[in-house]
Amino acid sequence: EMDRYINNLMAEMTLQEKIGQMNLITPGGGIPTGAAVSSDVEAKIKAGKVGGVFGVSGPEKVRQAQDLAVKESRLGIPLLFGSDVIHGYKTTFPIPLGLSCSWDMELIEKTARIAAVEATADGIFWNFSPMVDIARDPRWGRIAEGAGEDPYLGSEIAKAMVIGYQGDDLTAPNTMMATVKHFALYGASEAGRDYHTTDMSRLRMFNEYLPPYKAAIDAEVGCVMSSFNDVDGIPASGNKWLLTDLLRNQWGFDGFVVSDYTSVNEMIDHGLGDLQTVSALALKAGLDMDMVGEGFLTTLEKSLEEGKVSEADINTACRRILEAKYKLGLFDDPYRYIDENRAKTEILSLAHRELARQAAAQSFVLLKNEKQVLPLKKAGTIALVGPLADSKNNMLGTWAPTGDPQLSVPVLEGMQNVAGTDVKLLYAKGANISDDPEFARKVNVFGPRIEIDERSPEDMLKEAVVIAQKADVVVAVIGEATEMSGESSSRSDITIPEPQKKLLRALAKTGKPLVLVLMSGRPLALEEENQLADAILLTWHPGVEAGNAIADVLFGAYNPSGKLTATFPRNVGQIPIYYNHKNTGRPNPGDEFQKFRSNYLDVPNSPLYPFGYGLSYTRFEYKDLTVSKETITLDESLEVTVDVTNTGNYDGAEVVQLYVRDVVGSVSRPLKELKAFQKVFIPKGETKRVSFKLSVADLSFYRNDLSFGAEPGQFMVFVGSNSDTEDFEEFTLK
Ligand code: IFM
Repeated sequence: EMDRYINNLMAEMTLQEKIGQMNLITPGGGIPTGAAVSSDVEAKIKAGKVGGVFGVSGPEKVRQAQDLAVKESRLGIPLLFGSDVIHGYKTTFPIPLGLSCSWDMELIEKTARIAAVEATADGIFWNFSPMVDIARDPRWGRIAEGAGEDPYLGSEIAKAMVIGYQGDDLTAPNTMMATVKHFALYGASEAGRDYHTTDMSRLRMFNEYLPPYKAAIDAEVGCVMSSFNDVDGIPASGNKWLLTDLLRNQWGFDGFVVSDYTSVNEMIDHGLGDLQTVSALALKAGLDMDMVGEGFLTTLEKSLEEGKVSEADINTACRRILEAKYKLGLFDDPYRYIDENRAKTEILSLAHRELARQAAAQSFVLLKNEKQVLPLKKAGTIALVGPLADSKNNMLGTWAPTGDPQLSVPVLEGMQNVAGTDVKLLYAKGANISDDPEFARKVNVFGPRIEIDERSPEDMLKEAVVIAQKADVVVAVIGEATEMSGESSSRSDITIPEPQKKLLRALAKTGKPLVLVLMSGRPLALEEENQLADAILLTWHPGVEAGNAIADVLFGAYNPSGKLTATFPRNVGQIPIYYNHKNTGRPNPGDEFQKFRSNYLDVPNSPLYPFGYGLSYTRFEYKDLTVSKETITLDESLEVTVDVTNTGNYDGAEVVQLYVRDVVGSVSRPLKELKAFQKVFIPKGETKRVSFKLSVADLSFYRNDLSFGAEPGQFMVFVGSNSDTEDFEEFTLK
């Protein structure tokens, strides 16, 4: 049916109209993240020179733009309407790195579902999400947009998000087409600098970086976005091995590939040739749609005349885009995703905000809690200080262009909502996020994220110390402003800016119990803060319900259960640092320096907080780890069980993590690899038996010749509450 429809349509299309379908524009309502912006938008749509639009939203505007295509272009082919709905549409959820710390696939799927429900009511049905780039370098600002460092967890999350956005029926008026990005390896940009070179072995690619993209393809994602970086010397947007050999021939992807913003044109700067050359290269490589740069629109006809591309190349790309439109049901009803009524009732509904509150609470990671400072009592005097304590402008986090910061709940307001009448709440800003106006200018591109107070830093500090001295406990809300992480926000120094450090030092000096509520979009280097504070609650950028969720957790209405999905280094020099590393020939498993061993003179090898780490208000004890068999054959599976007891004073949820080590292989293997996890709720005093099934697929890996399989021999299986767990059992694969 679809083939017949598209054959008939394509038979009517001119060459220029086919190339038009391969052109994606933004009329300026979006965020111009590259060197070009689109021009003459209306005229181009009417002339059939546009296949899709992004940066336009809302029923009225989308209808107007769709009208231009449907009613005024020669063939009336409907447009695709896309957007970056990265962590919620208007109901903004925590940044993706935060959400990943929930380790809750159902929750993550639900947030994606709600994003789709809201976006589609407003006319947007093509999402530039999920971003699944594995990132081991917290200098890279875009680590905020992904699921952290682990390929297995990253794959599970990729799948959950694709299913959440797309549902099981892409034509339903409240599901949207997802785009997995950035294909591929963008998270390995050298030195954490955005848009930078990427270079790695195939072994590392296949075992560590590619699995989440593959998981999204297996979940039938509709679209793939090519990345800015090069892979083996060829930028992804023109890389035939990546876009055709791997993506289509090996993995069987049958949707369409869109470039990133002007990434085709950027191949000129990569040194691959002029616009005509790089556009032909991209098409030949398997790129179907060109975002904003119009290299396809302006050069492909000439390339065809000169024999540099074929008509078949153009037909293939055009057909893939028309197929996506067909699958979305646009040829039946180009307006099916516009619903004024739904827009009014469903966007930012109470139920959606409630989920945003829960999702935020679940994304928080308790890094430290000495002397049980947390949860706070709902009595006495609390001094709330810090530049992020009352800052609507910094709650949503990076890449929330459709969210409204003014609708977000800052921490002060959340505390007022939840604390109750027996608490006296005092507030002082205490410090600026940064005192450096030049730094603030760079961060404030999308709004006043860093506001430098007119008062002197000394006066602000004094005010905070005065209220701290009057309080029973001090809560300091500090960290990174929104947009200190995210795209084009790399940092070579991942510590907290100095004015906030000074504030913390002064607060610690008062001797009052000090709780740090830490906001950030990346792992930070926190050695000093870890010493100064009695408790640290990492909240990332929590989204629209930030303050309410933070108050829920601080006062114990929700017991924190988040676990880190990216390692926290002790200092920037340890980067890249990740849990699933190999042993080296001269390992040093301890933290004491050993000459002629693999370690540093000035810092231990261990991180400050490992992958998978996160505390609870209660305690969980692991006992009786057992494997069902000592030996398994290739077609058998193994059951691994453990008893987890909640021995503390609060009910709580624990993420039980299972790691495997393949002791001897034909290539060196990581010391530990996450292969399974379960988040279990355990009431206080109770024990839950948690069991996992391991199959040979879980023991398999890509070998030196890139064949995939498990190798007989000894395996260790670790189960515990984070990647440092040392409790293991062994078995043999025959
Ligand atoms: O989707 C984004 C991408 O992640 C980065 N460059 C711009 C695109 C469109 O906004």
